[in-house]
Amino acid sequence: MFTSSTREIPEERDTPRHVAIIMDGNGRWAKQRLLPRVAGHRRGVEAVREIVRASAERGIGYLTLFAFSSENWRRPADEVSILMELFLKALEVEVGRLHDNGIRLKVIGDTTRFDARIRARIAAGEALTAANTRLTLTIAANYGGRWDIAQAARAYHRQHPEALADGAPLDPDAFAPFLALAYAPEPDLFIRTGGEQRISNFVLWQLAYAELWFTDRLWPDFDAAALDEAIASYRTRERRYGRTSEQVAAQAVAS
Ligand code: IPE
Ligand code: IPE
Ligand code: MG
Repeated sequence: MFTSSTREIPEERDTPRHVAIIMDGNGRWAKQRLLPRVAGHRRGVEAVREIVRASAERGIGYLTLFAFSSENWRRPADEVSILMELFLKALEVEVGRLHDNGIRLKVIGDTTRFDARIRARIAAGEALTAANTRLTLTIAANYGGRWDIAQAARAYHRQHPEALADGAPLDPDAFAPFLALAYAPEPDLFIRTGGEQRISNFVLWQLAYAELWFTDRLWPDFDAAALDEAIASYRTRERRYGRTSEQVAAQAVAS
């Protein structure tokens, strides 16, 4: 079980334990080059490869990447099917390499809407890499923060049918283990590329005390140096979790 940032003060670390990224800007990257959007998505997969490698090298324990949101079904059908093809191909090509590098793969989101070949590859990839401990790579696919909270509420009440009836307030720390990312500590650092400054229904619950970092750089141009820039900014932040600056300083002296 990991520390809940609203119950206890998490331990300070120089390197974020968990980095969560909204990989945005593939379409604009392609448009700038007068290429079809798919060219941007292809380059985006290459950027994923580099950031996974760089994260493992830097000792980040958990990397969560938003690949397809529950609202991305609203895109034109041909773009959706290209994204599905790319996802399938990436699973086919990359899972073996992830495994060779000691990386555990997890996929969060409502995968029931995916085609059977994708679902089979996800299950096989998660099973193959389940015991790996160097880095946990989570791909959020057909993921939405609201979906996650709703599915967790259902699962919680299935397991605790008495909870609704007894009128007692819901304990957030009893509920949180039912969220899709319950196996990971809360993200320390949230990154969004592509210039927008919004959450777009990504992880909602566990971003409660994440440090936020936004960059205009488009996802296909996001590289290890850009990741280091985000981590450098993270290191300058004072994480107060509701306390005063003086309390934070006193605790740093004490420990
Ligand atoms: C992010 O890039 C990839 C997905 C959402 C699948 P976009 O495709 O959103 O790129 P822009 O925002 O149109 O540039
Ligand atoms: C967020 O990007 C989702 C992913 C990166 C998968 P979008 O491009 O879909 O976000 P909005 O529509 O600009 O908010
Ligand atoms: Mg976008």
